[in-house]
Amino acid sequence: MTPHQPTTLMTGATGFLGQFVLRELLQRGRRVVALLRSPLQDSRRRLAGLMRPLGVELDEHVTAGRLILREGALPENLPDGEWGPTDDILACAASLQLFSNGNGEPYKTNVEGTRTLLEWADRHHVTRIHSVSTAYVCGSHRDVIREVHHPRPASFQTEYEETKWQAEEMLAQWSRANGNTLTVTRPSFIIGDSTTGYTTQFGGFYQFARFVSLMKAECGSNSNGDGTYIPLRIPGRPDEQIQNLVPVDYAARMIAEIILNPDLHGRIYHLTDPKPPTWDAFKQFLEGYFHIHGGHFVDADSLPSDKTEAESLMWEKYDLLMPRIHHQPLFDEANTRAVRQSLGLEYPSLTPQRLSLLLDYAVSQRWGQRANRRHARND
Ligand SMILES: NC(=O)c1ccc[n+]([C@@H]2O[C@H](COP(=O)([O-])OP(=O)(O)OC[C@H]3O[C@@H](n4cnc5c(N)ncnc54)[C@H](OP(=O)(O)O)[C@@H]3O)[C@@H](O)[C@H]2O)c1
Repeated sequence: MTPHQPTTLMTGATGFLGQFVLRELLQRGRRVVALLRSPLQDSRRRLAGLMRPLGVELDEHVTAGRLILREGALPENLPDGEWGPTDDILACAASLQLFSNGNGEPYKTNVEGTRTLLEWADRHHVTRIHSVSTAYVCGSHRDVIREVHHPRPASFQTEYEETKWQAEEMLAQWSRANGNTLTVTRPSFIIGDSTTGYTTQFGGFYQFARFVSLMKAECGSNSNGDGTYIPLRIPGRPDEQIQNLVPVDYAARMIAEIILNPDLHGRIYHLTDPKPPTWDAFKQFLEGYFHIHGGHFVDADSLPSDKTEAESLMWEKYDLLMPRIHHQPLFDEANTRAVRQSLGLEYPSLTPQRLSLLLDYAVSQRWGQRANRRHARND
Protein backbone atom coordinates (compact mmCIF):
# COMPACT_ATOMS: atom_id res chain seq x y z
CA MET A 1 0.00 0.00 0.00
CA THR A 2 1.39 3.45 -0.92
CA PRO A 3 1.52 5.84 2.05
CA HIS A 4 -0.95 8.71 2.07
CA GLN A 5 0.52 11.84 0.50
CA PRO A 6 -0.71 15.05 2.17
CA THR A 7 -3.15 16.53 -0.31
CA THR A 8 -4.47 20.06 -0.76
CA LEU A 9 -7.59 20.89 -2.74
CA MET A 10 -6.87 24.24 -4.36
CA THR A 11 -9.19 26.70 -6.07
CA GLY A 12 -7.93 29.60 -8.20
CA ALA A 13 -4.76 27.92 -9.55
CA THR A 14 -5.10 29.76 -12.88
CA GLY A 15 -5.17 33.16 -11.14
CA PHE A 16 -2.27 35.59 -10.95
CA LEU A 17 -1.50 34.69 -7.35
CA GLY A 18 -2.66 31.08 -7.74
CA GLN A 19 -0.02 30.25 -10.37
CA PHE A 20 2.77 31.34 -8.04
CA VAL A 21 1.31 29.52 -5.02
CA LEU A 22 0.83 26.35 -7.05
CA ARG A 23 4.50 26.51 -8.10
CA GLU A 24 5.62 26.88 -4.48
CA LEU A 25 3.48 23.94 -3.32
CA LEU A 26 4.56 21.62 -6.15
CA GLN A 27 8.24 22.52 -5.70
CA ARG A 28 7.92 21.61 -2.03
CA GLY A 29 6.41 18.21 -2.87
CA ARG A 30 2.83 18.89 -1.86
CA ARG A 31 0.19 16.89 -3.74
CA VAL A 32 -2.36 19.32 -5.13
CA VAL A 33 -5.82 18.77 -6.57
CA ALA A 34 -6.53 21.88 -8.64
CA LEU A 35 -10.12 22.81 -9.40
CA LEU A 36 -10.29 24.20 -12.94
CA ARG A 37 -13.23 25.66 -14.75
CA SER A 38 -14.99 23.92 -17.61
CA PRO A 39 -13.99 22.88 -20.22
CA LEU A 40 -11.20 21.13 -18.35
CA GLN A 41 -8.93 20.64 -21.38
CA ASP A 42 -8.95 24.37 -22.17
CA SER A 43 -8.20 25.30 -18.57
CA ARG A 44 -5.45 22.70 -18.44
CA ARG A 45 -3.83 24.16 -21.57
CA ARG A 46 -4.15 27.67 -20.16
CA LEU A 47 -2.64 26.64 -16.83
CA ALA A 48 0.27 24.89 -18.58
CA GLY A 49 0.92 28.10 -20.55
CA LEU A 50 0.83 30.16 -17.36
CA MET A 51 3.15 27.83 -15.43
CA ARG A 52 5.82 27.57 -18.15
CA PRO A 53 7.23 31.10 -17.64
CA LEU A 54 7.42 30.23 -13.92
CA GLY A 55 9.65 27.25 -14.75
CA VAL A 56 7.02 24.57 -14.11
CA GLU A 57 6.14 21.89 -16.68
CA LEU A 58 2.59 21.03 -15.74
CA ASP A 59 2.45 17.67 -17.52
CA GLU A 60 5.43 16.36 -15.57
CA HIS A 61 3.61 16.96 -12.30
CA VAL A 62 0.36 15.49 -13.63
CA THR A 63 2.13 12.38 -14.90
CA ALA A 64 3.95 11.95 -11.58
CA GLY A 65 0.60 12.13 -9.74
CA ARG A 66 1.65 15.22 -7.76
CA LEU A 67 -0.97 17.33 -9.51
CA ILE A 68 -4.53 16.22 -10.14
CA LEU A 69 -6.74 18.41 -12.29
CA ARG A 70 -10.51 18.34 -11.75
CA GLU A 71 -13.26 20.28 -13.43
CA GLY A 72 -15.36 22.43 -11.15
CA ALA A 73 -16.65 25.88 -10.38
CA LEU A 74 -17.90 27.84 -7.41
CA PRO A 75 -20.51 27.74 -6.14
CA GLU A 76 -22.41 25.01 -7.92
CA ASN A 77 -19.99 22.47 -9.35
CA LEU A 78 -17.55 20.86 -6.94
CA PRO A 79 -15.97 17.44 -7.64
CA ASP A 80 -16.81 14.41 -5.53
CA GLY A 81 -13.35 13.89 -4.01
CA GLU A 82 -12.67 10.47 -5.58
CA TRP A 83 -8.86 11.08 -5.35
CA GLY A 84 -8.88 10.02 -1.68
CA PRO A 85 -8.53 11.90 1.62
CA THR A 86 -8.07 15.66 1.38
CA ASP A 87 -5.95 17.15 4.17
CA ASP A 88 -6.75 20.77 3.63
CA ILE A 89 -8.31 23.29 1.27
CA LEU A 90 -6.59 26.33 -0.18
CA ALA A 91 -9.33 28.77 -1.16
CA CYS A 92 -7.58 31.08 -3.62
CA ALA A 93 -10.35 31.60 -6.20
CA ALA A 94 -12.35 34.80 -6.14
CA SER A 95 -14.21 37.12 -8.39
CA LEU A 96 -12.18 40.36 -8.46
CA GLN A 97 -15.05 42.24 -10.08
CA LEU A 98 -15.28 45.40 -7.98
CA PHE A 99 -19.03 46.05 -8.36
CA SER A 100 -22.04 43.98 -9.37
CA ASN A 101 -23.16 44.38 -12.97
CA GLY A 102 -26.05 41.95 -13.27
CA ASN A 103 -23.96 38.76 -13.58
CA GLY A 104 -24.28 37.89 -9.90
CA GLU A 105 -20.60 38.61 -9.19
CA PRO A 106 -18.70 39.21 -7.02
CA TYR A 107 -21.29 37.80 -4.54
CA LYS A 108 -21.80 34.50 -6.34
CA THR A 109 -18.19 33.30 -6.28
CA ASN A 110 -16.98 35.00 -3.11
CA VAL A 111 -19.94 34.45 -0.78
CA GLU A 112 -21.99 31.60 -2.28
CA GLY A 113 -18.75 29.94 -3.36
CA THR A 114 -17.36 30.07 0.17
CA ARG A 115 -20.61 28.62 1.52
CA THR A 116 -20.49 25.61 -0.80
CA LEU A 117 -16.78 25.11 -0.19
CA LEU A 118 -17.48 24.93 3.55
CA GLU A 119 -20.25 22.42 2.96
CA TRP A 120 -17.84 20.38 0.81
CA ALA A 121 -15.24 20.51 3.61
CA ASP A 122 -17.76 19.21 6.16
CA ARG A 123 -18.98 16.47 3.81
CA HIS A 124 -15.41 15.31 3.19
CA HIS A 125 -14.20 15.66 6.80
CA VAL A 126 -11.71 18.37 5.97
CA THR A 127 -10.90 20.35 9.09
CA ARG A 128 -8.21 22.73 7.77
CA ILE A 129 -8.88 25.62 5.44
CA HIS A 130 -6.39 28.23 4.23
CA SER A 131 -8.23 31.14 2.77
CA VAL A 132 -6.77 33.96 0.68
CA SER A 133 -8.63 37.11 1.60
CA THR A 134 -7.66 40.76 1.15
CA ALA A 135 -6.16 43.33 3.51
CA TYR A 136 -9.06 45.59 2.53
CA VAL A 137 -11.68 43.55 4.40
CA CYS A 138 -10.92 46.30 6.92
CA GLY A 139 -13.28 48.51 4.87
CA SER A 140 -13.51 51.98 6.40
CA HIS A 141 -11.71 51.02 9.63
CA ARG A 142 -8.84 53.45 10.13
CA ASP A 143 -5.43 53.70 11.76
CA VAL A 144 -3.62 50.46 12.49
CA ILE A 145 -5.35 47.36 11.14
CA ARG A 146 -4.57 44.25 13.17
CA GLU A 147 -4.40 40.64 12.07
CA VAL A 148 -7.78 39.79 13.60
CA HIS A 149 -11.32 39.35 12.28
CA HIS A 150 -12.85 42.80 11.97
CA PRO A 151 -16.33 43.75 13.12
CA ARG A 152 -18.41 44.88 10.12
CA PRO A 153 -16.95 48.23 9.01
CA ALA A 154 -19.33 51.16 8.47
CA SER A 155 -18.62 51.00 4.74
CA PHE A 156 -16.52 49.37 2.08
CA GLN A 157 -14.93 50.99 -0.92
CA THR A 158 -16.12 48.23 -3.26
CA GLU A 159 -18.61 45.35 -3.27
CA TYR A 160 -15.65 43.04 -3.86
CA GLU A 161 -14.20 44.03 -0.47
CA GLU A 162 -17.58 43.57 1.19
CA THR A 163 -18.01 40.07 -0.25
CA LYS A 164 -14.52 39.14 0.93
CA TRP A 165 -15.43 40.35 4.43
CA GLN A 166 -18.64 38.28 4.30
CA ALA A 167 -16.62 35.26 3.23
CA GLU A 168 -14.23 35.74 6.15
CA GLU A 169 -17.21 35.94 8.51
CA MET A 170 -18.54 32.58 7.29
CA LEU A 171 -15.10 31.03 7.52
CA ALA A 172 -14.60 32.37 11.05
CA GLN A 173 -17.92 30.88 12.10
CA TRP A 174 -16.96 27.53 10.58
CA SER A 175 -13.63 27.64 12.45
CA ARG A 176 -15.45 27.93 15.79
CA ALA A 177 -16.78 24.37 15.38
CA ASN A 178 -14.85 21.72 17.21
CA GLY A 179 -11.63 20.62 15.52
CA ASN A 180 -11.74 23.06 12.62
CA THR A 181 -8.74 25.30 11.89
CA LEU A 182 -8.85 28.37 9.70
CA THR A 183 -5.81 30.26 8.44
CA VAL A 184 -6.32 33.52 6.58
CA THR A 185 -3.77 35.36 4.47
CA ARG A 186 -4.59 38.92 3.45
CA PRO A 187 -2.53 40.45 0.64
CA SER A 188 -2.81 44.15 -0.18
CA PHE A 189 -2.55 45.01 -3.93
CA ILE A 190 -0.48 42.37 -5.69
CA ILE A 191 2.19 43.44 -8.17
CA GLY A 192 4.79 41.56 -10.23
CA ASP A 193 7.65 39.29 -9.23
CA SER A 194 10.19 41.14 -7.09
CA THR A 195 13.17 39.54 -8.83
CA THR A 196 12.08 39.55 -12.50
CA GLY A 197 9.20 42.02 -12.69
CA TYR A 198 7.07 39.30 -14.33
CA THR A 199 3.34 39.90 -14.03
CA THR A 200 0.12 38.90 -15.75
CA GLN A 201 -1.98 41.61 -14.07
CA PHE A 202 -1.52 45.22 -15.11
CA GLY A 203 -4.08 47.13 -13.02
CA GLY A 204 -3.75 49.81 -10.32
CA PHE A 205 -0.08 50.63 -9.87
CA TYR A 206 0.68 49.78 -13.51
CA GLN A 207 -2.21 51.87 -14.83
CA PHE A 208 -0.93 54.78 -12.81
CA ALA A 209 2.60 54.47 -14.19
CA ARG A 210 1.22 53.97 -17.68
CA PHE A 211 -0.78 57.14 -17.30
CA VAL A 212 2.41 59.04 -16.43
CA SER A 213 4.10 57.60 -19.53
CA LEU A 214 1.14 58.73 -21.69
CA MET A 215 1.36 62.23 -20.22
CA LYS A 216 5.02 62.29 -21.05
CA ALA A 217 4.24 61.26 -24.65
CA GLU A 218 1.56 64.00 -24.90
CA CYS A 219 3.83 66.69 -23.46
CA GLY A 220 7.01 65.50 -25.19
CA SER A 221 7.46 68.84 -26.99
CA ASN A 222 8.15 70.57 -23.66
CA SER A 223 11.40 68.69 -23.44
CA ASN A 224 14.66 70.37 -22.52
CA GLY A 225 17.95 69.08 -21.17
CA ASP A 226 16.29 68.22 -17.79
CA GLY A 227 13.61 66.02 -19.32
CA THR A 228 9.99 66.83 -20.07
CA TYR A 229 8.39 69.68 -18.14
CA ILE A 230 4.81 68.84 -17.08
CA PRO A 231 3.34 71.42 -14.72
CA LEU A 232 1.06 69.28 -12.58
CA ARG A 233 -0.65 69.64 -9.23
CA ILE A 234 -0.71 66.10 -7.83
CA PRO A 235 -3.42 65.25 -5.29
CA GLY A 236 -1.85 63.87 -2.15
CA ARG A 237 0.57 64.57 0.69
CA PRO A 238 4.26 64.03 0.04
CA ASP A 239 4.93 62.45 3.44
CA GLU A 240 2.03 59.95 3.27
CA GLN A 241 2.51 56.39 2.12
CA ILE A 242 1.35 55.27 -1.32
CA GLN A 243 -1.17 52.50 -1.67
CA ASN A 244 0.14 49.28 -0.13
CA LEU A 245 1.66 46.99 -2.79
CA VAL A 246 3.00 43.46 -2.36
CA PRO A 247 5.10 41.45 -4.86
CA VAL A 248 3.44 38.25 -6.01
CA ASP A 249 6.43 35.94 -5.41
CA TYR A 250 6.70 37.08 -1.79
CA ALA A 251 2.95 36.66 -1.18
CA ALA A 252 3.01 33.18 -2.74
CA ARG A 253 6.09 32.06 -0.80
CA MET A 254 4.54 33.17 2.49
CA ILE A 255 1.24 31.43 1.73
CA ALA A 256 3.04 28.18 0.90
CA GLU A 257 5.29 28.34 3.97
CA ILE A 258 2.26 28.92 6.18
CA ILE A 259 0.26 26.08 4.60
CA LEU A 260 3.12 23.61 4.97
CA ASN A 261 3.82 24.34 8.63
CA PRO A 262 0.91 23.34 10.90
CA ASP A 263 2.43 25.38 13.76
CA LEU A 264 1.52 28.48 11.77
CA HIS A 265 -2.12 27.54 11.21
CA GLY A 266 -5.10 29.16 12.93
CA ARG A 267 -3.95 32.78 12.51
CA ILE A 268 -4.43 35.73 10.22
CA TYR A 269 -1.48 37.06 8.24
CA HIS A 270 -1.24 40.43 6.54
CA LEU A 271 0.80 40.08 3.34
CA THR A 272 1.49 43.77 3.10
CA ASP A 273 4.41 46.13 2.72
CA PRO A 274 5.57 46.99 6.27
CA LYS A 275 7.03 50.28 5.03
CA PRO A 276 5.52 51.48 1.75
CA PRO A 277 7.30 54.34 -0.05
CA THR A 278 5.99 57.85 0.53
CA TRP A 279 4.28 59.75 -2.27
CA ASP A 280 7.31 62.00 -2.47
CA ALA A 281 9.70 59.07 -2.92
CA PHE A 282 7.34 57.56 -5.50
CA LYS A 283 7.09 60.87 -7.38
CA GLN A 284 10.86 61.21 -7.42
CA PHE A 285 11.17 57.70 -8.75
CA LEU A 286 8.61 58.29 -11.53
CA GLU A 287 10.24 61.59 -12.46
CA GLY A 288 13.59 59.85 -12.78
CA TYR A 289 12.17 56.85 -14.62
CA PHE A 290 10.23 58.84 -17.21
CA HIS A 291 12.58 61.88 -17.32
CA ILE A 292 9.93 64.38 -16.34
CA HIS A 293 9.66 67.20 -13.82
CA GLY A 294 7.27 69.98 -12.84
CA GLY A 295 4.84 68.24 -10.44
CA HIS A 296 4.01 69.32 -6.90
CA PHE A 297 1.53 68.05 -4.32
CA VAL A 298 -1.75 69.72 -3.37
CA ASP A 299 -4.59 68.77 -1.01
CA ALA A 300 -6.55 65.87 -2.53
CA ASP A 301 -9.87 67.41 -1.43
CA SER A 302 -9.47 70.76 -3.15
CA LEU A 303 -9.89 70.29 -6.88
CA PRO A 304 -8.42 73.23 -8.79
CA SER A 305 -10.93 74.97 -11.10
CA ASP A 306 -8.24 76.07 -13.58
CA LYS A 307 -6.99 72.63 -14.49
CA THR A 308 -4.49 72.10 -17.30
CA GLU A 309 -5.16 69.29 -19.77
CA ALA A 310 -2.74 66.98 -17.98
CA GLU A 311 -4.33 67.80 -14.62
CA SER A 312 -7.83 67.13 -15.93
CA LEU A 313 -6.72 63.72 -17.08
CA MET A 314 -5.05 62.95 -13.78
CA TRP A 315 -7.76 64.24 -11.45
CA GLU A 316 -10.52 62.52 -13.42
CA LYS A 317 -8.78 59.17 -13.29
CA TYR A 318 -7.30 59.47 -9.85
CA ASP A 319 -9.79 57.34 -7.93
CA LEU A 320 -9.47 54.64 -10.53
CA LEU A 321 -5.69 54.79 -10.64
CA MET A 322 -4.95 55.10 -6.96
CA PRO A 323 -8.22 54.24 -5.20
CA ARG A 324 -6.71 54.56 -1.75
CA ILE A 325 -5.84 58.23 -1.81
CA HIS A 326 -8.45 59.06 0.84
CA HIS A 327 -8.01 55.95 2.95
CA GLN A 328 -4.58 54.59 3.76
CA PRO A 329 -4.79 52.19 6.67
CA LEU A 330 -1.57 50.98 8.24
CA PHE A 331 -1.40 47.22 8.33
CA ASP A 332 0.11 45.60 11.39
CA GLU A 333 1.90 42.43 10.27
CA ALA A 334 3.25 41.00 13.52
CA ASN A 335 2.23 37.41 12.67
CA THR A 336 3.76 37.65 9.22
CA ARG A 337 6.94 39.30 10.49
CA ALA A 338 7.46 36.40 12.90
CA VAL A 339 7.23 33.92 10.01
CA ARG A 340 9.62 36.02 7.92
CA GLN A 341 12.10 36.14 10.77
CA SER A 342 11.91 32.41 11.40
CA LEU A 343 12.67 31.84 7.70
CA GLY A 344 15.43 34.46 7.59
CA LEU A 345 13.49 36.23 4.82
CA GLU A 346 13.54 39.95 4.15
CA TYR A 347 10.57 41.83 2.80
CA PRO A 348 11.30 42.80 -0.84
CA SER A 349 10.96 46.55 -0.35
CA LEU A 350 9.98 48.80 -3.21
CA THR A 351 13.36 50.41 -3.73
CA PRO A 352 13.83 52.54 -6.88
CA GLN A 353 15.76 49.61 -8.41
CA ARG A 354 12.87 47.23 -7.79
CA LEU A 355 10.30 49.70 -9.06
CA SER A 356 12.39 50.12 -12.23
CA LEU A 357 12.49 46.36 -12.70
CA LEU A 358 8.70 46.14 -12.34
CA LEU A 359 8.09 48.96 -14.82
CA ASP A 360 10.72 47.69 -17.28
CA TYR A 361 8.80 44.43 -17.47
CA ALA A 362 5.43 46.19 -17.86
CA VAL A 363 6.84 48.43 -20.60
CA SER A 364 8.29 45.38 -22.39
CA GLN A 365 4.78 43.89 -22.35
CA ARG A 366 3.23 47.20 -23.48
CA TRP A 367 1.38 47.42 -20.16
CA GLY A 368 -0.40 44.10 -20.73
CA GLN A 369 -1.37 44.55 -24.36
CA ARG A 370 1.05 41.82 -25.45
CA ALA A 371 -0.52 39.32 -23.06
CA ASN A 372 -4.01 40.34 -24.20
CA ARG A 373 -3.08 39.77 -27.82
CA ARG A 374 -1.61 36.37 -26.96
CA HIS A 375 -4.83 35.41 -25.18
CA ALA A 376 -6.95 36.64 -28.08
CA ARG A 377 -4.91 34.45 -30.46
CA ASN A 378 -5.33 31.43 -28.19
CA ASP A 379 -9.09 31.88 -27.71
N1 LIG B 1 -4.76 40.48 -7.25
C1 LIG B 1 -4.73 41.23 -6.17
O1 LIG B 1 -4.23 42.38 -6.18
C2 LIG B 1 -5.28 40.70 -4.86
C3 LIG B 1 -5.13 41.49 -3.72
C4 LIG B 1 -5.60 41.00 -2.50
C5 LIG B 1 -6.20 39.77 -2.44
N2 LIG B 1 -6.35 39.02 -3.58
C6 LIG B 1 -7.00 37.70 -3.45
O2 LIG B 1 -6.09 36.73 -3.93
C7 LIG B 1 -6.82 35.63 -4.51
C8 LIG B 1 -6.28 35.37 -5.88
O3 LIG B 1 -6.43 36.54 -6.67
P1 LIG B 1 -5.81 36.65 -8.11
O4 LIG B 1 -5.15 37.96 -8.23
O5 LIG B 1 -5.03 35.42 -8.42
O6 LIG B 1 -7.14 36.70 -9.00
P2 LIG B 1 -7.34 36.35 -10.54
O7 LIG B 1 -6.07 36.47 -11.28
O8 LIG B 1 -8.51 37.16 -11.00
O9 LIG B 1 -7.75 34.82 -10.52
C9 LIG B 1 -8.93 34.39 -9.96
C10 LIG B 1 -8.90 32.90 -9.90
O10 LIG B 1 -10.17 32.44 -9.37
C11 LIG B 1 -10.80 31.58 -10.32
N3 LIG B 1 -12.24 31.76 -10.23
C12 LIG B 1 -12.93 32.91 -10.29
N4 LIG B 1 -14.24 32.69 -10.17
C13 LIG B 1 -14.39 31.35 -10.02
C14 LIG B 1 -15.51 30.48 -9.86
N5 LIG B 1 -16.76 30.95 -9.83
N6 LIG B 1 -15.27 29.15 -9.73
C15 LIG B 1 -14.02 28.66 -9.76
N7 LIG B 1 -12.93 29.42 -9.94
C16 LIG B 1 -13.10 30.75 -10.06
C17 LIG B 1 -10.24 32.01 -11.66
O11 LIG B 1 -10.44 30.99 -12.62
P3 LIG B 1 -10.39 31.35 -14.20
O12 LIG B 1 -8.93 31.52 -14.53
O13 LIG B 1 -11.00 30.17 -14.84
O14 LIG B 1 -11.16 32.62 -14.39
C18 LIG B 1 -8.78 32.24 -11.29
O15 LIG B 1 -8.12 31.01 -11.14
C19 LIG B 1 -8.29 36.03 -4.46
O16 LIG B 1 -8.88 35.43 -3.36
C20 LIG B 1 -8.25 37.53 -4.29
O17 LIG B 1 -9.40 38.00 -3.63
C21 LIG B 1 -5.89 39.44 -4.78
